Amino acid sequence: MKALVAFILLVQLPIHRAAPAAPPPPLGCDDPEIEAAAEFAVIYINGHSHHGYRFALNRIEQVRVLFQGPNNEILFLELDLLETTCHILNPTPLVNCSVRTFAEHAVEGDCDVKLQKVNGQFSVLASKCHSHADSAEDIREVCPNCPLLANLNDTDVLAAVSSALNDYNSKNPDVYLMLLEIGRAVKQYHPVQMVSVEFAVAATNCTSQQAKDNLAACQLLPEDQSNFGFCTAKMVTEPSQDLIAECQLYGHQPGVTYPHPGQDTSAGLVPSAGQGFTNHNLKISHNNPVASESSSSEFPSLLSAKSVAKRAAAEVAQHDKVPHPVGFVPPPPLCPGKIRHFKI
Ligand SMILES: *[C@@H]1O[C@H](CO)[C@@H](O)[C@H](O)[C@H]1NC(C)=O
Ligand SMILES: *[C@@H]1O[C@H](CO)[C@@H](O)[C@H](O)[C@H]1NC(C)=O
Ligand SMILES: *[C@@H]1O[C@H](CO)[C@@H](O)[C@H](O)[C@H]1NC(C)=O
Repeated sequence: MKALVAFILLVQLPIHRAAPAAPPPPLGCDDPEIEAAAEFAVIYINGHSHHGYRFALNRIEQVRVLFQGPNNEILFLELDLLETTCHILNPTPLVNCSVRTFAEHAVEGDCDVKLQKVNGQFSVLASKCHSHADSAEDIREVCPNCPLLANLNDTDVLAAVSSALNDYNSKNPDVYLMLLEIGRAVKQYHPVQMVSVEFAVAATNCTSQQAKDNLAACQLLPEDQSNFGFCTAKMVTEPSQDLIAECQLYGHQPGVTYPHPGQDTSAGLVPSAGQGFTNHNLKISHNNPVASESSSSEFPSLLSAKSVAKRAAAEVAQHDKVPHPVGFVPPPPLCPGKIRHFKI
């Protein structure tokens, strides 16, 4: 008997070796390996963004994996992101940054990312993102009184930012802060007339008194001493005037820079790059010369990935026609993956 078993094993072994390697099972959008790739991609995207806020992963929409060889894969991901409350200059870890709620007028980011995974190490080969605020109709439907995002160059918004910064600088005279960019703004009409603004600032080499005497001589601190911060302010205009402004300086963060629109680093209200929009576009922000802004031909397979998913769904449906044993739970669809925050 033992001899027979050994004989069978001997016979089977070479056959087994000769059999072609089974194709790896398709990976779903919520597969831990895909989630790890998406998290890597989100860190990359935030790290290469120079304006506005950091984004958090909301959903993995689509994935396609090309096996290049042992321990070598190319991954195409289609990601839905949501804007967080952390400005890109804010050093808070992303997990501690809260996602803007739907009622705060959410901004969604859509990204196509091409990654390579070699021996467990990810690298981003290409990425393409854009972001857009949720439509006013969507918000109105759920929340008729929620304030909507205002244009960043709206006259009332600029007035609120200017008043808030002057107010803060007069109450904190040691370091004169200068505006870097307005991050977002909302205008509200009921029950009070109010403008809420958020803006990024940086410390200059002046005190408030020096700025008052000669503003033109005040410069942003040099890169090795840079000190960025962020302000939020609410300016009520009706029924009575009121202003609350709060700023937080993050302290010097080695290696963190802010690209200046134009060469004007003198203090005062520097118009932020781009005007006439309500949110900083992730596409504009995302300007890594090597890996971003790549042509859409870098992502040819995402469409076909969709048809792959459709085919998989069709196969599942086909499979469902076969009678299943009692208690059979059909497998979840591979993509899109779960929604982490909310659907917009
Ligand atoms: C981030 O959140 C974790 C867990 O809630 C907390 O322990 C940590 O102190 C937070 N870090 C910052 C910088 O807020
Ligand atoms: C700030 O820096 C500029 C440029 O280096 C210099 O001209 C100016 O005197 C400095 N201002 C103060 C108050 O140190
Ligand atoms: C805002 O910017 C847009 C585009 O540059 C411009 O058309 C519009 O007049 C600006 N609005 C204000 C209030 O400056």
